[in-house]
Amino acid sequence: MIYFDSHCHLNDERFLGQEEEVVFRAKEAGLKAILCLGYDLPSSKQAIALAEHFDIVYAAVGFHPQNLEGARLEDLAEIETLAHHPKVVAIGEVGLDYYWENDEATKQRQRPFFIEQIALANKLGLPLSIHAREATEDMYQILKANRPTAGAVLHCYSGSVEMLREFAKLDLYFGFDGPITYKNSVNPKACVQEASLNRLLVETDSPYLAPVPKRGQTNEPSYIPYIFDQVASLRGMEKESLEQVLNQNFENLFHVKL
Ligand code: NI
Repeated sequence: MIYFDSHCHLNDERFLGQEEEVVFRAKEAGLKAILCLGYDLPSSKQAIALAEHFDIVYAAVGFHPQNLEGARLEDLAEIETLAHHPKVVAIGEVGLDYYWENDEATKQRQRPFFIEQIALANKLGLPLSIHAREATEDMYQILKANRPTAGAVLHCYSGSVEMLREFAKLDLYFGFDGPITYKNSVNPKACVQEASLNRLLVETDSPYLAPVPKRGQTNEPSYIPYIFDQVASLRGMEKESLEQVLNQNFENLFHVKL
């Protein structure tokens, strides 16, 4: 089997000094591509450094909505410069987070950063990896008014099935992670079943959200088969047919050959 991990943070401090082993285990598990997402300038640079070091690692650069303290819109010029690196295949992780950042002023500040980064992705012809938490309505309105022209994935999709249908009309991809393996998580499972097959992606979001049976441990890209198997089971599909479709989706969105 050939796998990919379309969203992880190998640049997280929890992986510091262990990157070689983590990437080795990912290769052993069959992964041919790992997309490492930045969340501010230093972590975006670190994602590129890892992509330069490991053949199967690719980078995304951007400002995450929870990492805007001290950031200025002018800093996006540096994101643009970084995005010209040949192993940068997306702008991300960008978006809106009203769960961790719930005061009105902070929410207000997230929107221009998100909108400007959509514009940057469109200018560069790159897809977006989007984080949305407790911000579904604003997310929908912004994406409707600022359509990504080179594609986008709603990573770790946690909205409702009804909203998934609305987002699907904007031609977005949906990324699913560890939570689809959790016993009590009903909604993400329903969303895996509802999404169009040609818009599905699997991701670990490691080091967070380890799937069952590794739940509670540090997540890593080599755990992607647990998430993949759960998608196959929820869709009632043979693993080989699912593998073909998902790998094609990854290649179509990120223009990376597996
Ligand atoms: Ni993430």
